[in-house]
Amino acid sequence: MTTMFAQNKFLWGVASAAYQVEGGYQADGKGRSNWDVYTNEYQVTQAFIDKQHTGNVAINFYERSQYLQDIALMKQLGVNAYRFSIAWSRILPNGIGEINPKGVAYYHQLIDDLLANDIEPVVTNFHWDLPYQLQEKGGWGNSNSVQWYAEYVDVLFANYGDRVKKFITFNEPFIYLFFIDLLAHNAIAKANPYAISNETYGKQAEAVHHLLLASAIATQNYHQLNLGGVIGITLSFTPTIPLDANNAEDVRAATVFDGLHNRWFLDAMYKGKYPDDIVKLHQQYNPAFQVSAEEMQLIAAHKPDFIGVNFYAPAYIKADASAPYGAEWFSTNPDEVKMFNGPVRPEYLYQLLVWIKNEYGNPTIYITENGAGFGAADEQLDGNIVRDPLRTDYIQRHIDSAMQAKRDGVDLRGYFLWSFCDNFEWVFGYDKRFGIVYVDFDSQRRTPKQSFYAYQQIINETPSK
Ligand code: NOJ
Repeated sequence: MTTMFAQNKFLWGVASAAYQVEGGYQADGKGRSNWDVYTNEYQVTQAFIDKQHTGNVAINFYERSQYLQDIALMKQLGVNAYRFSIAWSRILPNGIGEINPKGVAYYHQLIDDLLANDIEPVVTNFHWDLPYQLQEKGGWGNSNSVQWYAEYVDVLFANYGDRVKKFITFNEPFIYLFFIDLLAHNAIAKANPYAISNETYGKQAEAVHHLLLASAIATQNYHQLNLGGVIGITLSFTPTIPLDANNAEDVRAATVFDGLHNRWFLDAMYKGKYPDDIVKLHQQYNPAFQVSAEEMQLIAAHKPDFIGVNFYAPAYIKADASAPYGAEWFSTNPDEVKMFNGPVRPEYLYQLLVWIKNEYGNPTIYITENGAGFGAADEQLDGNIVRDPLRTDYIQRHIDSAMQAKRDGVDLRGYFLWSFCDNFEWVFGYDKRFGIVYVDFDSQRRTPKQSFYAYQQIINETPSK
């Protein structure tokens, strides 16, 4: 089957990630991933929500009978694209070496089923679930990770590259390596779950550099294959706002956090250089962090074809000596009703998109994630619908903001909502719902929310050219 998708058609999609939805954790020869071990052996969610949750079943998307129903619901929603990730440990159970044909077959079938429904598969190669054997060898901190990843993605390109026309090398390297994985490790070590040291950040600078090298090499390899598609990277963006604009320390901390989270990746790829202020900080806490001119050239020479923008919220930044690099961002949301991922400020999505356009030469952009969760008060079951007025309002205002940026010249080609169904929110388990479809995790029953119908209406009414 060779359905070609026009590159200039605006994509309206929904997004997910393997570990968060698939379940089937030991099915068909799958190897163990870091998250299988974090949740089953170390019960990491316990430290954050006081309950043991795992992705062993999740929303059972591994079962074809289940995902076919979900695809039917996606059709009803009206999306023309679905972003999902591939579990490395299904393809290569040991991370490298032997290929697992049944794992490969699962994604062949899923891709064909999406195409048969006129939904374009957009594939994230890596969304945080690393084969455990590689984790034990140091994960991304080991410079061999660049080679491991190249071997893995070659299998993906060879198998799926005829039908998948958009690959994403990585999802949110910052949140993965400087936040969620560190929280999981704190829980494993029975340490203060949220405490992160300067030295840990310094160490992670090496890991994130390897990851960017891996992304560049994968991009190079993909381009050499001439498969007629595109490859990008998905980054998280958190615009910064000094908590007190008149406090010089808060302003300085906001600049640090902006460099660490937002400028680090784009500067490397588009300017061939990491921001000096942040390199200095990393080296202050980890003198071993050194990068060569050749490596930076490699990263800049094999730029992504598009930037995947994940945007949830800006962050108010407070100078705080106990926070890593003195910049506290996670606990400063001033909103009365708190969205899980920060204050609701749709205008910052507009500003962010225009900033990327002006600062980095107007790259092609897909919003690969945007969405919200506010807790139980915004998940009210009412007959055949779940009322979520806050999420609904959030989505409408953020899409407005994104479309305004598009009208003002940002090369925006698509919008993917996070998420289609409620799912496993990492160390927070199933307690944080982001779906526009409600999932009863015991029965696997799906109930569309108010936001589902609102998004359906937006898709119907917004011309996509
Ligand atoms: C970003 C991550 O990519 C995704 O895995 C997570 O569930 C959402 N944000 C919501 O926090």
